[in-house]
Amino acid sequence: MFRRVYLDNSATTPIDKEVFEAMLPFLNEKFGNASSIHFFGQEARAAVDRARHQVAETVNARPNEIVFTSGGTEANNLAIRGLVEANDKYGKHIITSEIEHSAVKEVCADLEKRGYEVTYLPVYEDGIVKLEDIKNAIREDTILISIMTANNEIGTIQPVEEIGKLVRDLRETSKKIWFHTDAVQAVGKIKVDVEEIGCDLLSISGHKIYAPKGVGALYVRRGVRLHKQNIGGHQERERRGGTENVPFIAAFGKACEIAKNKLSKNAENLQILRDKFESEVGEKIAHLVFNGNREKRLPHISNLSFRFIEGEGLLINLDMNGIAVSTGSACSSGSLEPSPVIRALGRNDELARGAIRFSFGNENSAEDVEYLLEVLPKAVENLRKLSPSFQNFKQ
Ligand SMILES: Cc1ncc(COP(=O)(O)O)c(C=O)c1O
Repeated sequence: MFRRVYLDNSATTPIDKEVFEAMLPFLNEKFGNASSIHFFGQEARAAVDRARHQVAETVNARPNEIVFTSGGTEANNLAIRGLVEANDKYGKHIITSEIEHSAVKEVCADLEKRGYEVTYLPVYEDGIVKLEDIKNAIREDTILISIMTANNEIGTIQPVEEIGKLVRDLRETSKKIWFHTDAVQAVGKIKVDVEEIGCDLLSISGHKIYAPKGVGALYVRRGVRLHKQNIGGHQERERRGGTENVPFIAAFGKACEIAKNKLSKNAENLQILRDKFESEVGEKIAHLVFNGNREKRLPHISNLSFRFIEGEGLLINLDMNGIAVSTGSACSSGSLEPSPVIRALGRNDELARGAIRFSFGNENSAEDVEYLLEVLPKAVENLRKLSPSFQNFKQ
């Protein structure tokens, strides 16, 4: 029988059964608007409040520091635009990294067109920003540092706690500077604690942690001022207008609760699968390059460059065998440019084009990894047979 193996869990995850059940009543009989005063409204309000507690507990925040959004992209937009627009009298310089998700990078690029200056820090071969570089980049007019907790293509974990401390120390000298971190990939995979990180703003997305697509949250530390981006309603304590998506918020709350309660068990299982794959793939396939630091990274991501072949070709070949992975390149936007993240590691074009991300999820099994290890070497071999650069290399 044709087997399907989903190894693209960093792109999105399936909805957890318990999460699905938590959502259903709010798509059906409990349909009230959370802003209405009557019973139906109160029922919806109670669900939103419960979810707010669940999300807050997952990242060790207070419930009123959680703002529900339509996902990670909106959380990043609200964090960055909201913060700089509310505080531009203190300066117009932002520090970020070269490997941020486009929901950070493109917001920064857009702000550059509007008179802000942005420093994009390098990450070197291991895919991790250096604290020293951040210190050197800070200027009198720097108001925001936005560095992700962990990267979505190579999984590398950034020194967010050190950055948080640096920012707090600077604030003690009465400098106006804030720290945002995009924790979309990190939540549910490693411990994410806003107090330990010491961030002011932190983005989360539901569909990376087994909730539906289209819901997420921004943690906003008490006292941090944001300029509202969604205008036209008083929801979320004036921080995000729009009728709350009660079913998805209820689902997201449940997904956060599960992510927190099962964190160590899930992370351990993911790491076992990922490590099994990595320890055997190198024996079966030659000319492989691992991308990113192999210690400081999320437990479920493996990013490999296969020399002499195109990642897209390999992706399609795997897909024909029922295995779903991703190239991490910008192909989704219609461009065949190699991944900027892999390029930021200093990899040449060949390696950047030959990169594949395998991202494991809670529903994967050891049999899935075995199937991958059976299909992948054959796919690589077939593609290399057709590759002129491989034929040249062999001669
Ligand atoms: C690191 C990171 N940030 C932000 C996002 C965007 O989140 P959403 O899809 O919920 O808008 C993603 C999704 O791929 C991501 O991986």
